[in-house]
Amino acid sequence: MLSGAVDPAELVALAERVARSAGALLLQRPTDLGVSTKSSPTDVVTVMDRASERLLVDGLLEARPDDGILGEEGGERSGASGVRWLLDPIDGTVNYLYGLREWTVSVAAEADGEVVAGVVHAPALGDTYAATLGGGARWNGDPTGVGSAPELAQTLLATGFGYDSAQRARQAAVIAAVLPRVRDIRRIGAASLDLCLLAAGRVDAYVEQGLQPWDLAAGGLIASEAGARVEGLRGAPAGEALVIATRPELFDALHSLLVGAGVDTLTTGGTS
Ligand code: IPD
Repeated sequence: MLSGAVDPAELVALAERVARSAGALLLQRPTDLGVSTKSSPTDVVTVMDRASERLLVDGLLEARPDDGILGEEGGERSGASGVRWLLDPIDGTVNYLYGLREWTVSVAAEADGEVVAGVVHAPALGDTYAATLGGGARWNGDPTGVGSAPELAQTLLATGFGYDSAQRARQAAVIAAVLPRVRDIRRIGAASLDLCLLAAGRVDAYVEQGLQPWDLAAGGLIASEAGARVEGLRGAPAGEALVIATRPELFDALHSLLVGAGVDTLTTGGTS
């Protein structure tokens, strides 16, 4: 049972504090990243993902010892407070591996299963995004909102692909059918950052299938608090099956485009 004393403003401040510490650690990128693989040969983890997660978990539990944790790199712990933290210690690990700057530390707090606070910190870009449920979204401390809605044909659409080869082929087929109908696509390589770019009006929409809770939680809250509609297919909540995020005025047109492009094949595993 969640204590009425949980204050999203306190949670977001703590999230930002630990995310900044992890970001500072990650900027000290060692030459040997100690790379190993996870779900597929292209799904990598480095010693820095693990060190970042350890630092996040230690910082959060020091401040709030009764909270639960779910971290991408295995940190899982049930808590008694009703608050659970969803952690992606490096979102965009492949970018980090290659020395690209588009990676983040993503920290979100759920209270009784609902995301109430989120921070996406991109230290190599100098950008930090944060939101509390009902409290709006901020980009480097200032209020931020999604940009004005373009026509579908003028939409800059961010997207991403999973690590399983067969699923990637299906995802690529859907995007191939979408591409001629929009301005262009961007594959930036960090889902949390894609959602924050939408929140900052730097892309018009974002679509991806296969996200895990730690990829989606903080960025999803930031995008919706910035005015985006963030949902799955046919009114389902956004989640692993699909995330469609864009300005509300553009949502239905994008949803129809995706259905016409065969987005249902992503969840059924079909070919058409
Ligand atoms: C990945 C990135 C990528 C997205 C993948 C995610 P990771 O997270 O967010 O952009 O396309 O679906 O798994 O593995 O770098 O934490």
